[in-house]
Amino acid sequence: MLTPGHMSGRWTSLFCLLSVLCALFTPAVSVKEHDFKKCDQSGFCKRNRAFADQAVASSSWHSPYNVLPESKSFKDGQLQATILKTINDNGDTVRLPVTISFLQSGLARVTVDEEKRQKKEIELRHDSKARKERYNEAEQWVIVGGLALDKGAKVTYEDKSQITVQYGPTSNFEAVIKLAPFGIEFKRDGKTQIKFNDRGLLNMEHWRPKIEPPPEPEKKEGEAEQTEEEKKEAEKKEEERKANEPKGEDESTWWDESFGSNTDTKPRGPESVALDISFVGFENVFGIPSHAGPLSLKETRGGEGKYTEPYRMYNADVFEYILDSPMTLYGSIPFMQAHRKDSSVGVFWLNAAETWVDITKAAGSRNPLSLGTSSKTTTHTHWISESGLLDVFVFLGPRPEDITRKYGELTGFTAMPQEFALGYHQCRWNYVSDEDVKDVDRKMDKFKIPYDVIWLDIEYTDEKKYFTWDSHSFPDPIGMGKQLDAHGRKLVTIIDPHIKNVDNYEVNSELKSKEFAVKNKEGNIFEGWCWPGSSHWIDAFSPAAREWWASLFKYDRFKGTMENTWIWNDMNEPSVFNGPETTMPKDNIHYGGWEHRDVHNLNGMTFHNATHHAVESRKPGEHQRPFVLTRAFFAGSQRVGAMWTGDNQAEWGHLQASIPMVLSQGIAGFPFSGADVGGFFGNPEKELQARWYQAGAFYPFFRGHAHIDARRREPYLAGEPYTSIITAALRLRYSLLPSWYTAFRQAAVDGSPIIRPMFYTNPTEEAGLAIDDQFFVGNTGLLVKPITEKDKNSVDIWIPDSEVYYDYFTYNTIPTVKGHKVTLDAPLHKIPLLMQGGHIFARRDRPRRSSALMKWDDYTLVVTIGRDGKSAEGDLYVDDGSSFDFQAGQYIHRKFVLDGAAGAISSVDAEGRDPKTVKEGEWMAKMHDVTVDKIIVVGAPASWSKSKEVTVESEGKTWTASVSYTPAAKGRAAFAVVKKVGARIGADWKLVLP
Ligand code: NOJ
Repeated sequence: MLTPGHMSGRWTSLFCLLSVLCALFTPAVSVKEHDFKKCDQSGFCKRNRAFADQAVASSSWHSPYNVLPESKSFKDGQLQATILKTINDNGDTVRLPVTISFLQSGLARVTVDEEKRQKKEIELRHDSKARKERYNEAEQWVIVGGLALDKGAKVTYEDKSQITVQYGPTSNFEAVIKLAPFGIEFKRDGKTQIKFNDRGLLNMEHWRPKIEPPPEPEKKEGEAEQTEEEKKEAEKKEEERKANEPKGEDESTWWDESFGSNTDTKPRGPESVALDISFVGFENVFGIPSHAGPLSLKETRGGEGKYTEPYRMYNADVFEYILDSPMTLYGSIPFMQAHRKDSSVGVFWLNAAETWVDITKAAGSRNPLSLGTSSKTTTHTHWISESGLLDVFVFLGPRPEDITRKYGELTGFTAMPQEFALGYHQCRWNYVSDEDVKDVDRKMDKFKIPYDVIWLDIEYTDEKKYFTWDSHSFPDPIGMGKQLDAHGRKLVTIIDPHIKNVDNYEVNSELKSKEFAVKNKEGNIFEGWCWPGSSHWIDAFSPAAREWWASLFKYDRFKGTMENTWIWNDMNEPSVFNGPETTMPKDNIHYGGWEHRDVHNLNGMTFHNATHHAVESRKPGEHQRPFVLTRAFFAGSQRVGAMWTGDNQAEWGHLQASIPMVLSQGIAGFPFSGADVGGFFGNPEKELQARWYQAGAFYPFFRGHAHIDARRREPYLAGEPYTSIITAALRLRYSLLPSWYTAFRQAAVDGSPIIRPMFYTNPTEEAGLAIDDQFFVGNTGLLVKPITEKDKNSVDIWIPDSEVYYDYFTYNTIPTVKGHKVTLDAPLHKIPLLMQGGHIFARRDRPRRSSALMKWDDYTLVVTIGRDGKSAEGDLYVDDGSSFDFQAGQYIHRKFVLDGAAGAISSVDAEGRDPKTVKEGEWMAKMHDVTVDKIIVVGAPASWSKSKEVTVESEGKTWTASVSYTPAAKGRAAFAVVKKVGARIGADWKLVLP
């Protein structure tokens, strides 16, 4: 069965070709919320919430998890012990090995597994092709570093009830491990920051045999009724069976569970892991994307303005998603950061199974015995995963940037993209032929609208067979690629993970014969429905399958592609139209015998990763950084590409929601993100479209996209004044590309978000901690607040500090007061964009058709004089924008400093490198011709008016450049423009006022 929503695009487009009445056939946009589970429809979530309710309601609640005192040992920064879980009134226990690792990075990692049970018990279990142990391979996919143990960590206190371990780079972190019940309190400088199991919600549903009630004996004709004794014997057995199970638990979903028409068989029975994590004294928590809600996460257990459902992470094709909701979306990153005025901390819950997180806030701590309890609000979180290990990393900050950097060290930093990927991407479902693509390309040129990439959605294929072309509509893909290449433009083609299940399709026959597809619970190749109809899914967990996948992208195999072709991975949650919650059955089996249940949230990343490596290796020596966009993602996906927020709608609310969503990606380590500009479903009114481009120009990933039923909306079709307004937004993006690229470089090196919320840039300003509708771009000091409401001609921007702020376009000095909002006029043609004083950022001002054509353009530097009236600082990172040569030092990284007192601006190597140590390659040599053309000094002091010239000193030479000074007038700051500076961008130089 196909969901009508998914099919609407395809079918209505066919109808529309035939009929002017197509509107009648287009189903109204409606939310399919009921297609997705609520907590009480998900057995393990319901059980754990009930467990929590029971614990929280009872003052005498005792968590049944106690460390076996004689089991503990501490060596080389690692504490190991066994936790005993009491499982019934008879006092029977289950053994859970726990490892607490103290890492050199200052992180602590807590891992709890379950000891293998008696063979007999395992044999008693339901027969299954699935592996019997808990899934323990998430680490292999996610963690890339930062695991070295802190051998300096030491036990500083120990008695019968607790052990205290001191750790961290400056030994100012402490973990107080309580033995009975098991719990941990994490402290920094003696103050409690995070607590585990403080509310006693730790729960590891242990393995147990499935004991079927004895079958009713078949009564033969003439046979006597059961005797009283026999009946008693049977009753006794049943009682014994029940005594072995914990009392009062809802067992109804232990061994199978249905949702809609699908039944999940659960051969391993209940196996969830759950833990309460309290952030002591923290009112704001961020992260766990992707959800369409505010950046500062809401409470989830009801009450006015709060959610009633936990935040859910179960990657899903949530068709027509709703706003302001904790409902799951396409990707998940189980990383949460808590922040208050003087502290940032975080946790990373390394578990790839379906996960729910309840959030509540309360004054102080529930446990009166806890040390360091704050009277301030504490955020209590309750993490619940369906299966796998309990594996949590704890970050003790103290600053937001410490958290993002350490998280990056652990899971990897953003891959440095090619520069074109930061340009504008023109997409729709679909450009219908190669002529159509060429026509759009020509029209963009005709209207002088810059863009870098045009995209092909699924219709380019021969009947949804990936790696093929529809030969009628796309007879000459190479000709198309060449036309694009002539202006440095690229093509992105979609390749999804479902492979059409038809004969005479090589990819399908190879997938089947090589057994590289995901299997069903019987161990046969899984078959489901997606765009092509009946399909199979590549199992990218398998190394051999990935190798085969890579072979499909070679130019001689994927004919029609060339070096400027890049890839879009969609539907990789995976989306299965006739599957439970539009995805794969949880009892499907992957490589290694793991159930889909264990790895669901990793699935999209493994596919994205396979494609990334395939593209990287499609031709020996090609040496280009791959570009692959993904819809589904997990922690670590940032290493292999970009993501977008999926199928939004052409509505103001969706434009508004996109900003916290993209900000959230940034603080969860995956900043290369954006939303479909214009809205995927529906037809944006012109004003919305224009405003969306103005906002999109500030998404790290900037792509216009539209559903197949939506009217064509390439920027040149908007008509005036809209086309000009959109073009201006695009040109602004292009002129600022050097600064965007510099921000990406920083993300690639230290995990900084590319666009930064107020809590990140001004962590001590409490009033700004939850603000999520304005942000800074990298460390340029550019502060933007996109307009996201209809008929808005002004906007109130919250000012986080006492710096000077200038209007980006007019150089007006904005009358600001720290901690207050300032109103800025923003008629339709204007983006509310301020420049914070004290920065120097780079632009390339010559309008061009694509980023490639800007490669050798000279730079403009914009200097914004700070509050002290004299100083400013900034940097610029440049490399060849495409190859990996930057890894061998082939890049330019300058630091610019304005020393107002000396009346000088200088440029030095930002990393203090000696230029002689880098052997210049071709690109660096060619950069000798690229110079600083113009320097604009906004807020220039009067000393700049004294002369018509400045002296430039560089590479042993001295020359002069002209300067024009415009005094302040009517609210506009004074500014000076130095023209034809002429110093090489890659060289040291100094510009001095005479
Ligand atoms: C769903 C994606 O989210 C959307 O962007 C795309 O256009 C359609 N699939 C068709 O491929």
